Order: sequence, then structure tokens, then C-alpha cells
Amino acid sequence: MGWIPAPRLRGDRLRGNDGLGRSVWGALTAARGAPMLARLQQFVAVVREGAVVATQATGGRIEQVFVDGNPGSRELYARARRVIAGGVTHDVRVHSPFPVMVDRAEGSRKWDVDGNEYIDYTMGHGALILGHAHPIPTEAAIRQLSRGTHYGASHEIETAWAEQVCEMMPSVERVRFTGSGTEATLMAMRLARAHTGRERVVKFHYHFHGWHDYAHVAQSDPLDVPMSAGIPQSVQDTVTGIPVDLDRVREELSKGDVAALIVEPTGAGWGAVPLDPAFVKALPELCREHGTVFVLDEVVTGFRLSPGGYQALHDVTPDLTTMAKILAGGLPGGCVGGRADILQRLELRGDPRWDRGQRMAHPGTFNGNPLSAATGVAVLRHIADGAVHAQIDAQTERLRRGIQDVFDRHDLGAIAYGESSYFHVSMNGIPSRSGMSGDDGAALRRALHSHGVHIMTSGGLLSAAHSDADIDQTIEAFDASVRDLETDGLVGG
Ligand SMILES: Cc1ncc(COP(=O)(O)O)c(C=O)c1O
Repeated sequence: MGWIPAPRLRGDRLRGNDGLGRSVWGALTAARGAPMLARLQQFVAVVREGAVVATQATGGRIEQVFVDGNPGSRELYARARRVIAGGVTHDVRVHSPFPVMVDRAEGSRKWDVDGNEYIDYTMGHGALILGHAHPIPTEAAIRQLSRGTHYGASHEIETAWAEQVCEMMPSVERVRFTGSGTEATLMAMRLARAHTGRERVVKFHYHFHGWHDYAHVAQSDPLDVPMSAGIPQSVQDTVTGIPVDLDRVREELSKGDVAALIVEPTGAGWGAVPLDPAFVKALPELCREHGTVFVLDEVVTGFRLSPGGYQALHDVTPDLTTMAKILAGGLPGGCVGGRADILQRLELRGDPRWDRGQRMAHPGTFNGNPLSAATGVAVLRHIADGAVHAQIDAQTERLRRGIQDVFDRHDLGAIAYGESSYFHVSMNGIPSRSGMSGDDGAALRRALHSHGVHIMTSGGLLSAAHSDADIDQTIEAFDASVRDLETDGLVGG
């Protein structure tokens, strides 16, 4: 179960549970009432000053050690920037002064182009529950490669994959495969709209559901500005972001025009802002009362929190579930699963009134491709009995406690928290999606790199490959990194 140490506030450093620096929050608050563009410009100006950019350079010994240790990555990044927009292929991989460039990976480890070895806690952004290059998906992929990667036709493995999902996920009666988690949440929203004949989708503040237009609404501060440029106002008008508050849910649903309510079940940013299971358990009934489709976004939690995901662990029955990551065993893939009567909206019936008026259309070149299906089936079958989950959860609990001990020993006021097989770090002691986005957090991530540990923006995910020795080494790396932060004057004193 979830484990969060008591919050420890560090004086005047931060406010709010999204962890924005006080100066940024001040700018936003002061600008409230100003036109949206002006507010955004003010926000950007403050960010540029260096208040909350996760990637900012802090100089000092930590940065020098990082630069000196990664000449090959630095050179490769310069080359990448000449041809790859922004130099990276996922926003989360931005890292200052440059990201490390990985050469290969195996088990819990990966190695960069300079030969540096890392214990990896990014784990394929959560997709690799067995670790890197595990024999089970690797052999399944090799077998399938020689039999063809795309038949342009239906095949047995996609049906076996769907059967496995239906068997493991309690609420799932039918499945439709997509290319990614983003496509899955897009499909769930469209299915709900087609099914209810309504347009509006309600989501929670800061909850992440991928990068399509509807998902980018109310995702980060300032909440009334979409996460990205290029999102039409007409799209924004059909998505309402609300705080985590049952009265607000009731208020929105009772308007009678809400097609879908979607939630990240463990809370915004895969549990960075933890959500009380009692809150999530109240949502299906409320949705039923108001004719709204309840969508549980299990892209991260599915097959990770338990073989049957969040819904099996907490006995929650959604109408639709979105899945990806572990689903495809480390290859690309996603799906929507759920109530047969809603999923049947994908059925072509040869009746023009149904096919063009009530049916949801769904093409997609790589949907249910044999390669992803083969690795997906192999991994899901392997983890179906829950033994892997018990092992990883125990390992992660030990890691969270070990990191917390380090923070406490150094009187840092930071916390390590999370549940199941993931952990988050918040430097100011308040669970938030941006817990490592200040100078100290960015420097901690950079120092961890130099001590052989690679985490995501504010935490990480474990796999069955993470050993006791990995956990011990990681805790030592945290200790050494915090000492580096003290040396550079970024904490303490
Ligand atoms: C909860 C959640 N939903 C949807 C997505 C989007 O999935 P993908 O990156 O496969 O498009 C993510 C990605 O991290 C996610 O965390």
C-alpha cells in the first residue's frame, strides 16, 4: 500500500501541492484577471529566470563532474540537435546541460556511450516490468520477427493478447488495441462521446492522459492554459478540469452533459500527488447516476499495481479502462477495454445509419501488430500470478525507506514516497508533480547520474530485475549525491 512520510515543510521555499516556486506562484496570482496571453508571458518570464525549470544548470562541482564524465553524450547530443527537433524525442528526456545517450541495456542496468553504467529507474517509462532485454519478451520477439511483423490482416496472437487482458482485468469484457496510451485515452473519450451523444469530458487538475488535444487541458500550471500551443479553443471548451473534490464532481456531472470522467487512479503524475482510493471508489456510482462513462486510466497502473491493475487491487469497476506500457511487454501498444455494449460501438454493421451515425471509426496501421502482441502475451502470462508484483513491491518499499533515511540523516526536509513499485521524491516535503524541479532537485538528479543512478523527472519505477544489491547501491548513491549538494551549497547551511 501507499507510503508517504509526514510532510515536512521547508520554511518559505514553496507553496501549493504542485510544488511551484513561490516566485512563480506569485507571478501567476498577481496576473490573475489579466488576459490569458499576458499571464502566460509572465509565467514564462519567471520560469526563464530559473525558478522552476527542471533542466536548469546550476553550475558547481556537480555539473562539472557530469560534463567531464560524459564527453560522448555531449557530442552525440550536439549531433542530435542538428536533426532532431529540440534534440530529444520525448519532452521528459530533456536534461541540462545535455542528456546522457544510452548505448545498451540489460536487466536493471543501462550503459551510455561513454561506458558509464547506471541502475535504471526509468524502466522504459514504466513499460519494462521484467527489466531490460528480459529473455521472455526477447525470445517472443525474435520468434515473431522471423514469422513476420505485420500481416495487414487479423491473426491469432492479437486474440490471445485480448483474451489475456480480459482474463487479468476484472472489468474488461472486450478490448480494442491502439498504438499507444495516448491513442487509448483518445479512443476512450471518443467512445464515451459516441455512446452518450454528449461532448464534454471532465478530468482532474494535473492528471496526465497523454498528449492528444483533449488530454492537454488542465494538465499543468497555469491550469487555464493548455499544456501545448496549437490546441483549438473549441477543443478546450469540451474538456473541463476540476480539482479532486467529490462535490465538484457531483456539480459537473449533474449538469447532464458529461460524456466521460477520466482519472489517473493513483493520482496526478502516476501517484506524485496521491489520491485516496476512497475518492476513486466513489466515482463509478456517481457516473452511473448521471449517465457518464467512467474511464480509469491504467496506462501506468495496469498490470503494475497488481496483475489486474488498480481496479483489482481496490475493487473499482470502471466502464472503460485505458492501458499501455506493460500491456505490450516493452514494445509499442495500447488498448481500451471495458463494457461490451460500449466497445460494440466499434462494430461495422452494414447499416449506414449505425455505421456513419452511431459507430466509432478506428483505423491505425500498427494496432494489434503481431510483434507487440507476441511480447505482450508473453509478459502478461508471466506476471499473471502476482509473484513478480510481490517481489518488486517489497523491493520498492525498501528503496523508499532507504532514500527517506538518507534525507532524514541529512536533515533535508525532502520526502521519498509512492506505492506499489514506484517512488517519487519531493525536495520540499510536499507530494507534488514537480518535486525535483528546483535547483536542488535538478542538481540531485544530475549528481545521481554521476553516481550511477538514472531516475525520471521526480522518481522512478522498478522491475523484477532490481536486486537487493541494486537497492543498496542506489541508497548509497543518494547519500553521496546529497553530500555533493551540500558541497555545492545547494542544501543545508
Ligand atoms: C496515465 C497515463 N495515461 C496516458 C499516457 C500516454 O501513454 P503513451 O505515452 O503510451 O502515449 C501516459 C504516459 O505516460 C500516462 O502516464
